[in-house]
Amino acid sequence: MLAGLSLAALLVAGCAKVGKAPAARPPGVKAAGDIARGSNVFQRAGCSSCHSTGSDTLVCPGLKGVMAWDTTLPNGKPRTDDNVKAWIRSGGVGRTGGTMPSNPGLTDRDLADLVAYLKTLK
Ligand code: HEC
Repeated sequence: MLAGLSLAALLVAGCAKVGKAPAARPPGVKAAGDIARGSNVFQRAGCSSCHSTGSDTLVCPGLKGVMAWDTTLPNGKPRTDDNVKAWIRSGGVGRTGGTMPSNPGLTDRDLADLVAYLKTLK
C-alpha cells in the first residue's frame, strides 16, 4: 500500500492537476505519512525558521490548521495533499509577497510525512 501511494505521489510531483480522489482509509489505519518522521523533516528542512506551528506569524504565516484552510494555496491550486506536496517542493511567491524557497531535496516519503504532520497542526 505504501508503494502504491508513493507511486501516486510520484505521478503528481510535476504539479499537474490530477482529479483523483485519495483512497478512503478506514479509521485507525495509518495514513500515507508518518507523523513523527514528518515533524522531524519539518525541523531538518528548516521549515520552522519561517513558519511557526501555531497561528503566530514569524517570517511567514503560522501553519496551524493549514491543511484545512478555506483558501487555495498561494499558487492558486486547491488545497489537496498532492498540491501541498508540490508547493513544498517547488516553493513560490506567497500572497504577502514573500517567497518560499524550493525544497528539491525532499523525497516523496519526506513530503508524505510532512503533510501527515501538517494535518496534526490544529
Ligand atoms: C524562507 C522562509 C520559508 C521557509 C524556510 C519555508 N517556507 Fe513555507 N512559506 C513561506 C512563504 C513566504 C509562504 C507564502 C505565504 C503567503 O502566502 O504569504 C509559504 C507558504 C507555505 C505554505 C502554504 C500556506 C498557504 O497559504 O496555504 C505551506 C503549506 C508551507 N509554506 C509549508 C512549508 C514547509 C513544510 C516548509 C519546510 C519544508 C516551509 N514551508 C519552509 C516561506 C517559507
